[in-house]
Amino acid sequence: MNFILALVIFVGLIPAPVKYSDGEGVNVRQKVVVKMDGKAFRKDVSGLEPFQQKEAYRLTISKKKILIEAATEEGVFRAKTSLEQLQRGGELPCCTVFDYPRFANRGLMIDESRSFKGLDFLKKQVDAMAMLKLNVLHLHLDDSAGWRIQSDAFPLLTGKTAWRIGTTYTEWEQGGYRFSSEGDPLAYGGYYTKEQLRELVKYAAERFITVIPEVEMPGHSMEVGYSYPEVLCQLEDGRRHTGAWDLCPGSEATFTFLEAVLAEVMDIFPSPLIHIGGDEATMKTWSQCVNCRRRMEEEGYTDVRQLQGYLVRRIERFISGKGRRIIGWDEILETGVPENAVVQSWRGVSGGIKASAAGHDVIMSPNSHCYYNYYQDLIRKEPKAVGELVSLRFTYGYEPLAVGMDPKHLLGVQANLWTEYIPTPQHAEYMLYPRLFALAETAWTPSGAKSYKAFRRRARALLDVFRSLGYNTFDMDTESDLARSGLQRFPPEGTPIPVDDEF
Ligand code: ACM
Ligand code: ZN
Repeated sequence: MNFILALVIFVGLIPAPVKYSDGEGVNVRQKVVVKMDGKAFRKDVSGLEPFQQKEAYRLTISKKKILIEAATEEGVFRAKTSLEQLQRGGELPCCTVFDYPRFANRGLMIDESRSFKGLDFLKKQVDAMAMLKLNVLHLHLDDSAGWRIQSDAFPLLTGKTAWRIGTTYTEWEQGGYRFSSEGDPLAYGGYYTKEQLRELVKYAAERFITVIPEVEMPGHSMEVGYSYPEVLCQLEDGRRHTGAWDLCPGSEATFTFLEAVLAEVMDIFPSPLIHIGGDEATMKTWSQCVNCRRRMEEEGYTDVRQLQGYLVRRIERFISGKGRRIIGWDEILETGVPENAVVQSWRGVSGGIKASAAGHDVIMSPNSHCYYNYYQDLIRKEPKAVGELVSLRFTYGYEPLAVGMDPKHLLGVQANLWTEYIPTPQHAEYMLYPRLFALAETAWTPSGAKSYKAFRRRARALLDVFRSLGYNTFDMDTESDLARSGLQRFPPEGTPIPVDDEF
C-alpha cells in the first residue's frame, strides 16, 4: 500500500531525482528542519563537481519530521521545490530523496522581439522554470521585428522600433516591415523599462535563476539601422544601405553604439554570461561598403566573412574587460573567437562538437531537438509553426553529450522559443508545456535514470498541476500516433507509424 502510494505521488516529481528510496508510512506532522552544511551531508557530496555540490540536497520525510540537508541556500531551495511537488500529491509518503543536477546550465530562451509578452508573462515562466529546477532564462531582447530594452544612450531604439504595424510577425512581414510608435492606434509592440528588467532579474535570482540578456549582432538588426542609420553600410556616394539586415562592422559608429548599449545592458543584468547573438549575418552589404572595405584593407582581410570575426572579437574584448564572458550562436566559431567564448549550438549538434574540440565551453540547443517553436504534433492538427516535428517523446530522447564531446566543456542544455509564429502569451505556453518538462529532465537527471514511460506518467500528472495554476498547455491526451511514436522529425510520406498503446 505504501509502495503504491509512494509511486503515485512520485509521479509528480519532474525532473526525476538521482535517488529516491521509500520509507515506512506517511508524514503526519509537517515540521520542516533545515540543516545547512552538516558533516554527513558534506561527506556524501564530496565526490561531486562543485556546481553539483552547490545544488545538491537530501530530503528525508519521516512520520514526524521533514529534514532538508544541503550545502547552500540553493540546495535548500531545490529541496523545497521537490517537497512542494510531492505535497501536491496529497499525503506525503515517508521517503528519502538524494539529488543533484547533471548539468550546471539548464535553460530556456524566450524571443521577446517577434512577439512581446510582457513582465507578468516572464515572471510566470520563471515560476514554472523554478518548479522544473531550471536555472537560466535567456532573453532574446532585440531583433529586426522590434527592440525591447529601454536605452538612455540610444532612445530612438524604443522610440522608433519598439512598435510596428502588424500584430503578428507575418502581418508585419507582409506589410513591408513598417515600424510605428507608441500611441499609434495601429501599433503593436512594447518594451521593457530598466526598472522592469531589474525587477525580473531580482525575481529570478530569488528563485536561483540567472537572466542572460542577448543583444543580437551583426545580423538580425534591421531595427537598429532604422533608428540609427550610422550603423549601416555606406556606398561611395555617401548613401546608407537603408533596410539592411546587418550592422556595418567597418564603421566606428557601430562599435560606439554596441558598446554603449552593452554597458547599459550589463548594468541591468549581473549575469556572468552576456549573449551577443552572432547568427545568420547575411554579409550582403559589406563588400559594397566603403567603411567595410577600409577595415578589410587595414586588417589585411581577403574575405568579408573575416569582418564578422573582427566584430565578435572586438566586442568580446569589451565584454571581458567588464569582467563578463560572451556567449554566441555557433556561427561565431567559424570566423575566429577566443577560447573563453561560450558557443551555443543551434544548427544541430555539430557546432557544439566542433566548439568543444576547439576548447570552448558549450551550451547545446540543437534545433533538431530543442526548438519548441517547431511542431509538437501533426501540421494539420497544430497551429502554424515552423520546422520539423519535435514531439514530447523525441525531445525527451535527446542526449546532449554527443559522441566525442568532452563532458568538461558541456555546460548544459537549453530550449529555445522563437516567436515568429507565436503571437500571444497563451500560445507561447502551449508550445512550452509539457516539452519543457522533458528538457528539465534531460538537464537534471542522470541519463541512465531517464525512462520515457515513467516520465510520461509524471508529465501527464504535472500538466494537470500546470493547468490548475493557469498555464495554457498542449493536450497530451490528443497526441497523434506519429507524435506518440517518437519518430525522428516528420518521416517520409508512407512510413508506417508504429502504434504504441502504452503512450
Ligand atoms: C537561431 O535560431 N537563428 C539561433
Ligand atoms: Zn559596412
